[in-house]
Amino acid sequence: MTGTVSIIVPGDKSITHRALILAGLARGTSRIRGALTSLDARSTARVLRQLGVEVGPLRVGRPVEVRGLGRFRRPLAPLHCGNSGTTARLLLGALASHRFRATLTGDRSLRRRPMRRVTEPLSLMGARFQPPLAETLPLTVSGGRLMPLRWELPVSSAQLKSALLLAGVVGQVPVAVREPTGASRDHTERMLAALGFSIGGTNGWIELAAGGSIRPFDLEIPGDPSSAAFLVGAGLLGGRPTTVARVGLNPTRTGFLAVLARMGARVVTTIEGAELGEPIGRIDAWPGALEGVVVAAAEIPSLIDEIPLLAMVAARARGITRFEQVGELRVKESDRLGLIADNLESLGYRASGAGNTLVIEGDSERVPRGRIRTDGDHRIAMAFAVLGTIPGARIRIDDPACVAVSFPGFFEVLRQLRRGP
Ligand code: S3P
Repeated sequence: MTGTVSIIVPGDKSITHRALILAGLARGTSRIRGALTSLDARSTARVLRQLGVEVGPLRVGRPVEVRGLGRFRRPLAPLHCGNSGTTARLLLGALASHRFRATLTGDRSLRRRPMRRVTEPLSLMGARFQPPLAETLPLTVSGGRLMPLRWELPVSSAQLKSALLLAGVVGQVPVAVREPTGASRDHTERMLAALGFSIGGTNGWIELAAGGSIRPFDLEIPGDPSSAAFLVGAGLLGGRPTTVARVGLNPTRTGFLAVLARMGARVVTTIEGAELGEPIGRIDAWPGALEGVVVAAAEIPSLIDEIPLLAMVAARARGITRFEQVGELRVKESDRLGLIADNLESLGYRASGAGNTLVIEGDSERVPRGRIRTDGDHRIAMAFAVLGTIPGARIRIDDPACVAVSFPGFFEVLRQLRRGP
């Protein structure tokens, strides 16, 4: 495409966490290329090292070697998961069958995020927690012999689903889980299937059969579609076509592209390969006249991390956009529902985040100016930075450094995109 900016984004955060953890549970050396090197990925690497896994340094452009012992070792100090909910929840699952005590904690944001959704089913499987049925971090898990589980999740959540599947894998017991409203990202299921585990199911149930051990693997991690979303969004607001190459195209992650297309953008995805069951390819997006849309509850899990960005596009569109059943946004790295609505209102837009619904009235003429409160949330910072690329806009982000949680170098890439090809 002429005038098109082609971008590569850092490695997928969800796949990086899972690759490091699965490699850490394998007996032998795995090689991971293209891993994310952000603060969240470092949290998983650091905690795995405390659990006896040899994890090489995470450096941009260098493969990381992970040597696991087949099981974790008892940690000598509390496991600090930083800002990363995925680290904490997935590791709770993996630790549930280890016969030692491990204490998990995190930063202020992570210590307010709900853990009972994980500790309750893991307790039913036989793990013990201190405090019992702990609601939040810090908490101590004492693992042991596990029992099979068949469990209807209270929310569609990949972190929760993956924690329970990992408990089944490490504890060698069958696990069946079902999500209530729409399917969350299925990276764990795809990776386990690619590694030879028997995982299937019908009628919405995801069923893992007992047995099998994780063998070491080589993997090239694709770019993160959630990071790509900000750059595609900036292209749409700036009236420029955008191409993102070598990016993950797992359909449980690309719901945002369907919404952008409904809003009036032209979007084409092209699958060019696959790694451990994950489709990889390119996104081409062309701007169009943007209209408000309804984003239904069943779509939310496939675009949960892209709602801050979609909200910015909605602010620029003609008419009203409604995101239904988005209460989960209140328990992300920040209260995203509240922060999106409050920050948009402070810039002069009409927005409401009452109850479980986010409603935004678009205003394509407005030139937003003001200061954004992020509460240290990387996706709030990046979303409003994208809104700040509107010509004439002046947006100050209170904590721009927080983007390093998922997308180190974000502002440089955004600047490069604005300069054009
Ligand atoms: C993630 C799952 C999502 C997402 C988070 C990463 C994962 O959360 O918000 O950034 O890697 O499993 P839930 O699906 O648990 O809501």
